[in-house]
Amino acid sequence: MIVVFGSINIDLVTRATKIPGPGETVAGPIYEKIPGGKGANQALAARRAGADVVLVGAVGADDFATHALSLLKADGVDLHHVATVDQATGAAFITVDPQGENAIVVAAGANDYAQARQLADVAIDDKTVLLLQREVPDAEGEAAARLAKSKGARVILNLAPAGAISESYLRLLDVLIMNEHEAVSLAAALGLPADVRSDPESVARTIDQTYGVPCVVTLGANGAVGWTGGVCRAADAIKVKVVDTTAAGDTFAGAFAAALERGAHFSLALQYGIVAGGLACTKQGAQTSVPYARDIESVVQERLKEDFIPGTATPSP
Ligand code: RIB
Repeated sequence: MIVVFGSINIDLVTRATKIPGPGETVAGPIYEKIPGGKGANQALAARRAGADVVLVGAVGADDFATHALSLLKADGVDLHHVATVDQATGAAFITVDPQGENAIVVAAGANDYAQARQLADVAIDDKTVLLLQREVPDAEGEAAARLAKSKGARVILNLAPAGAISESYLRLLDVLIMNEHEAVSLAAALGLPADVRSDPESVARTIDQTYGVPCVVTLGANGAVGWTGGVCRAADAIKVKVVDTTAAGDTFAGAFAAALERGAHFSLALQYGIVAGGLACTKQGAQTSVPYARDIESVVQERLKEDFIPGTATPSP
């Protein structure tokens, strides 16, 4: 089972000819209300990748909450541990440009009131993977990690959005996942040497070797690298026509966690993550773009066949 402790948002999404700079207004034709939030997106990604998933978080007593939880409910994510609090449901204001890149402002609302103690009644054991992000308070994330570790669970943190976490939190992790910007920002906060800070792959190696925490860095069109036990693994990105990159990182994290939870080794989990994240870029929106296991699986199997016989895509008889 995967337990996700994290944010639940409604995304208000506009496609515009460009992402506005400071003081600038840009016209967009329409906006859409799409279920989002890094925690909720990762829960759905893990679920659609085939895992049993419990989502723990907080929403407001408003119409946004119903919409924000609708796809999770439809796909069978356990929502019994989502609290309703006296705050507005979290909302994200997203602009997507013609290249599919986005800019996001998140209003935390109810997410700031999610508490680790909500995990007290969740059946966590040594088969559980706890998946965390940074859109609920870090202190609560760390407390959730501590609770899960005390029950023998594995803990994965996706360090998004970018920022520093305490060394005590870092050392609780079984895997840390970041994108290249998040890696650079964590490296600065940890005071890593300048030559390491400027290179996301070196940051991943240092987190693995210095802190003993396996670390994955996603590199957009350049795929992903992961360091575990002093060994580097890499996965190439899949080639897709990018429509919208929103939630690609969340989809990577959810599919990676689902693969690890069902017993895949680290480098195979990287493949599942990178394929799922790539497929998420081909559709508009956060949860509306999350792929299902059958679509992920067919691409992963094709890749494995190609890897089996280097230099050719055709298996030998
Ligand atoms: O990672 C994408 C997500 O970030 C969006 O769904 C938005 O809600 C913000 O949390």
